[in-house]
Amino acid sequence: MTRWIAPGRINLIGEHTDYNDGFVLPFALAVGCTAVVSSRDDGWAASSAQEADPVVVDRTGLDDAPDVPAWARYVLGVLWLLVDRGVDVPPLAIEVDSDVPTGAGLSSSAALVCSVVRAVDDHLGLGLDDDALFALTRDVENDAVGAPTGGMDQLVSLRGLEGHALFCDMRSNDTRPVPLDLAGSDLTVLVVDTRAPHTHADGEYGARRRGCEEAARLLGVPALRDVTAADLDDALARLDDEELRRYVRHVVTEDDRVLSVVRLLDEGRLEEIGPALTASHASMRDDFRITVPEVDTAVDALLAAGALGARMTGGGFGGCVIGLVPDADVDAAGEAVRSAFADAGFGEPDLFTAAPSAGARVL
Ligand code: ADP
Ligand code: GAL
Repeated sequence: MTRWIAPGRINLIGEHTDYNDGFVLPFALAVGCTAVVSSRDDGWAASSAQEADPVVVDRTGLDDAPDVPAWARYVLGVLWLLVDRGVDVPPLAIEVDSDVPTGAGLSSSAALVCSVVRAVDDHLGLGLDDDALFALTRDVENDAVGAPTGGMDQLVSLRGLEGHALFCDMRSNDTRPVPLDLAGSDLTVLVVDTRAPHTHADGEYGARRRGCEEAARLLGVPALRDVTAADLDDALARLDDEELRRYVRHVVTEDDRVLSVVRLLDEGRLEEIGPALTASHASMRDDFRITVPEVDTAVDALLAAGALGARMTGGGFGGCVIGLVPDADVDAAGEAVRSAFADAGFGEPDLFTAAPSAGARVL
């Protein structure tokens, strides 16, 4: 039986730009979700090593399956959407097992859906091409689960490459690996899982997305990606709503920061990307307003302890922070974060290092 694995991800830079047709620069993690597909006599069965009970449903389309729990919708959603695309899907059992922490902003859900899509495509011999695989994973999250996310997580989980970040144009879905040679440098990406509870995250994410779409409509462009850094002042002058102005400023400057980091990495200047990471965090904190005290505290502690740059990664309202830290300062930076959390009365954070790993593959 073929076992597929698809990884979680860290986003190096480019937050809330994906659903604005913009640019992102994530990399795949070493942790991932595995999926195995086998035949059965009737119905479709989903089981997870992380869930107590399997879910078994009749073979049917998306609209006929309202009562399936969220986790199983990521799995069975792949089959529902294939049926909706005209594929005759036979009775199947799908088993998954993941070591990506859930709800930490490391895209355990993308790892789950991407491993299932690759395993089902393989088992049924569908031969879906790269674009079709990506469209299916994104549509499962948007349509079968109902999360209005922008596709970055699935794209990098499918296409990540060891030793590289993945520069993604989220309008064309073209991707290009960019060297992120941490092993050959004296720098480490230190990850702080703040474990801050994700209160209101879903509603706030959707509100940001709707606000950006409204701003693009008012500016008469297809998406905020079409406002360049050079156009920004003009665009801001045309908007009355201060909240929408802040959203536009974040998205336009963030796209620009992604491009600047890609340029530096292409030129082998990894040690110079820190200021863009930190500026990205300030933009998420002050303009886009998606950070929480735990996240801001972690960033400040990392910077004070010698990080070249630090920022929240992922959708926001909790989750993880990354710091680009000289190898010699990693222990001290970790201690600085723990002690800042203790002083502030926050719960114990989880700290680990991350390096760019491969995307979905057969184990
Ligand atoms: P993130 O993707 O950042 O970890 P999300 O809240 O978007 O956070 O996704 C987490 C959800 O994905 C879980 O609540 C669960 O529904 C689903 N999930 C992820 N991994 C698994 C797994 N191994 N088994 C079952 N469900 C999973
Ligand atoms: C994630 C979401 C991505 C992206 C990110 C913010 O939670 O899944 O699509 O929008 O937030 O950059």
